Amino acid sequence: MYTPQMMESVRRVEDTRQARLEAEPARMSADAKDELLKNYHPDYRSEAFDTIMVGANKGERAPKELVRLLHSNSRILGKKVDLDNPSVETDVLIIGGGGAGASAAIEADEAGAKVVIVTKLRIGDANTMMAEGGIQAADKPGDSPVQHYIDAFGGGHFAARPQLLRKLVMEAPDAIAWLNRLGVMFDKDAEGNMITTHGGGTSRKRMHACKDYSGAEIMRTLRDEVANRKIPVMEFTSAVEIIKDEDGHAAGAVLVNMETGQLITAKAKCVVIATGGAGRMHYQGFPTSNHYGATADGLIMGYRAGASLLYQDTIQYHPTGAVYPPQILGALVTEKVRSLGAMLVNTNGEAFIHPLETRDVAAAGIIRECGERGLGVDTITGSGVWLDTPMIEMIHGEGTIEKRIPAMLRMYMNYDIDIRKEPILVYPTLHYQNGGLEIGSDGFTKAIDNLLVAGEAVGGIHGRNRLMGNSLLDIIVFGRSAGKAAAKRAADMKLSKLTLSHLADYAKELEKEGLKTGTVSPLLLPDYRREADEMIEV
Ligand code: FUM
Repeated sequence: MYTPQMMESVRRVEDTRQARLEAEPARMSADAKDELLKNYHPDYRSEAFDTIMVGANKGERAPKELVRLLHSNSRILGKKVDLDNPSVETDVLIIGGGGAGASAAIEADEAGAKVVIVTKLRIGDANTMMAEGGIQAADKPGDSPVQHYIDAFGGGHFAARPQLLRKLVMEAPDAIAWLNRLGVMFDKDAEGNMITTHGGGTSRKRMHACKDYSGAEIMRTLRDEVANRKIPVMEFTSAVEIIKDEDGHAAGAVLVNMETGQLITAKAKCVVIATGGAGRMHYQGFPTSNHYGATADGLIMGYRAGASLLYQDTIQYHPTGAVYPPQILGALVTEKVRSLGAMLVNTNGEAFIHPLETRDVAAAGIIRECGERGLGVDTITGSGVWLDTPMIEMIHGEGTIEKRIPAMLRMYMNYDIDIRKEPILVYPTLHYQNGGLEIGSDGFTKAIDNLLVAGEAVGGIHGRNRLMGNSLLDIIVFGRSAGKAAAKRAADMKLSKLTLSHLADYAKELEKEGLKTGTVSPLLLPDYRREADEMIEV
């Protein structure tokens, strides 16, 4: 249901629709894209960043909100932790119950290791579950992993770690085959061939999807497999620090029971951090498409333990977050909507950017349109641009929206907006952390040779911008290989005495830099409580 002012703009969108269908907006030159990014992408707002003063990345910049957590005290500083009597003992401890953690657990179990998953919410409460549009893999004639590499490397501004990206694209076809065998219900044609589409920045149609519930369907399947294998999952239990041994190996984690606050010692021969992203940090005040647990916990724990970060200063703002109605502010409007032909259109009904530019470029274009150009549409949560969804059925025929993007149809129908007939209002939403903990191509952190990282907590796979569908892919590729590698490492790992002395060392470093703070980290959950003076009296 739109306001009368919005409806006036909708009329202009309708008036220009036929002409837009006939003439696709031009692609931008590389120089024009660079200029747009420099001037409008939030990664270039220097005032939103601070310098990290301690640890492996001392002197580098990161979003202020992340630096604040890196400069905070450990949650367990000064608390008694019984390291001599662990209540959990396992070969492989997996921190995180999303797609990367579940994939790692399945492969470690398959390799014969004893595995425990610990997750602060429930298994599957993760960004994997929220992923909609699909998963990339070059597994069709006319495409190749080389082509996939070129697309992703360019889209990431040539900053991806080549060995990591190589692994991603080379192992992608097998990742799809594995998921298919496990029972993921991919979209297929009548002959049983996978249906694939484009995403922003792809030169071939290699996006495999399960309607627009791709992440939910993948997570459903992985969760079933974890349950079928009877892999123990400690839910509502947060890891808050990595435990090390006196030789510098990772040796488990200190866990907190989220209901009772009780501290639990988990000892493990190998640890996998698979804690996901950071959308709930709301960098620069952006809304987010992420689930409630996305608070960068793994980055904080890994960093305190001595691991280094890579590209921690680069964040992905998905161009199309919902900006209206306010009840769904920040919710993901999948890129698949644009893959199917919907254009980004300003208040005058003009298509101002090609709908399948890479995400950073499209987001910067929308920010410019709503900001400097003043051609956005005002809503009570801010300005947005139209995503012209009725174009989809004009291109692909009636019924396409219900068939291909039913989640979008349902989400908007809840607010009496029928996306088959009316366009929707969007603005960039905080979607993905491009950076994270630095790993080698074997998945291990450089500083700690039995600490692995998989999924969104890794930095460097995608460079400084990620293409659609490469995140669902990386959680599977790097999750699986982390599980296999962890099982192998655990088999010959002998731990010495457990210690948390690195926490005291980190605290000393903070003190030396004069960083006295009353805050603690990891954050674990976002705090949405309002100050009393912000409350609306009822
Ligand atoms: O737009 C989307 O469906 C998101 C996909 C992704 O982040 O890979």
